[in-house]
Amino acid sequence: MDPATAADALRLELGRRLYRLGLGRDGREIGARIGAGGAVGLRGGAVACANCHGGDGRGGGEGWVRAPDLRWFALGRPRLRDDGSRRPGYDRAALARALRAGVAADGVGLDPAMPRYDLADDELDAVFAHLRALDRGADAAAPPALLVLLPQRDAGPAERLLEGWRNCPGPAAGRRRPALEVLRYRDWPQAVAEVAARERAGRVAALFGPYLIDAEAALAAAPPPAGLPLLLPVSLRGLAPEAATVRFGLPGQLEQARALIAERPRAVRWRLYRDPDDPAAVAQARSLAAELAAQGRAVEETASLLAPETAAGAGPAAVLALSPLPPPGAAAAPTALALPAANLDWDAAQAWRQGGARLRLVHAYPPQAAAAPGRWIGPQQAWQALGCELLAHLPPLPADAAAVPAWRRLVAESPPLRLQGWFELPALAPAASEDGRVTLRDWPDAPTH
Ligand code: HEC
Repeated sequence: MDPATAADALRLELGRRLYRLGLGRDGREIGARIGAGGAVGLRGGAVACANCHGGDGRGGGEGWVRAPDLRWFALGRPRLRDDGSRRPGYDRAALARALRAGVAADGVGLDPAMPRYDLADDELDAVFAHLRALDRGADAAAPPALLVLLPQRDAGPAERLLEGWRNCPGPAAGRRRPALEVLRYRDWPQAVAEVAARERAGRVAALFGPYLIDAEAALAAAPPPAGLPLLLPVSLRGLAPEAATVRFGLPGQLEQARALIAERPRAVRWRLYRDPDDPAAVAQARSLAAELAAQGRAVEETASLLAPETAAGAGPAAVLALSPLPPPGAAAAPTALALPAANLDWDAAQAWRQGGARLRLVHAYPPQAAAAPGRWIGPQQAWQALGCELLAHLPPLPADAAAVPAWRRLVAESPPLRLQGWFELPALAPAASEDGRVTLRDWPDAPTH
């Protein structure tokens, strides 16, 4: 063995003993202080890194301060903390500060649950070498996960959805439901960077139910890695097909609008209402207007529901609302208002009706259970039920990174799901013409007979 390799081997052996047993150079028990103000002094095995970060360095603990992943591919790279802040990657000097002074790579004080160590320079070198060694083969050992992306802003509905998916009713017929790993983000591009890093490391099987309400435009601007499937994205507006590989999705707003248009005579003159401060709706109105014009239909975009309705010689007009329906003003109401149900504000809609408007709604899913007529289903419930159904039917998660492509092919070829008499969930992003997936109805409902 040449001298350099021998020194490396000794350093690695010291690092391993330090990490696992809390033993330093010449077998001394290393010392550390722990707790607020370094109140408690401990030695040796009591402060071995493995106790908290795990023998394999993957971190752990279920308490409110979790010991993070120390494998070098995680520690050496920037990390998005659960609170949305971002710490840069560690190097040896930053590691020394963290271990001796309890300061993270960005200067933020580490929780007092992480001990402050009394370590010599060569002992530090040994820990550093051991953390790098932990890395080898570590990527393959971390099984790829179903990753849920949740925004930290207005998190209530997203967290409730996650809670529901974690507590799906009913036993999954002898099968374990796949666990969900959660990434809470403050800033979309950072979240995408984190997802891309995990994708490169083979740690993601698919994004599951990413909560994208109001982030649709951000997703189109900064898409996740190509080929990474989005299973059941939560989006009222719908996603541009080029921005994402969607599997098991509900029809987006454009598809819903097409269904509303398709059921009316061709002679109808469409006015596409969108709030000028709503960029996603402005973009959707533009593309829909171009599509209709190309079919030779009369169409205009409008920022006001009250613009004059009848131009000389023009056919009957109908308004299609691509932004949430505002309350009517003083002027005459349009007589025909069509809109995706997500844009229906109950009070505004009542006021429009009193002004003589007829309302026609489209839903991305059948809002009444076929199995229980009269029971209305909200979008939150629909996503909830679909998510649980999907978790029960997905093929078992890939065991390692190498098995991910085959697993994704299997998912892509999965037949549609049939949801307990409710409706069918198409496996693939639908073709533009497919409008049989939405439900159209008048509002309020015609009296049942
Ligand atoms: C008693 C439990 C415990 C022991 C023992 C422990 N740690 Fe930690 N460690 C933690 C906790 C908890 C955190 C998270 C602190 C925070 O988030 O503020 C942490 C954080 C860290 C961080 C910062 C990671 C980051 O992403 O910013 C590093 C580096 C670290 N530990 C290394 C070590 C090493 C090396 C050892 C052994 C020499 C060790 N720890 C021993 C509990 C422990």
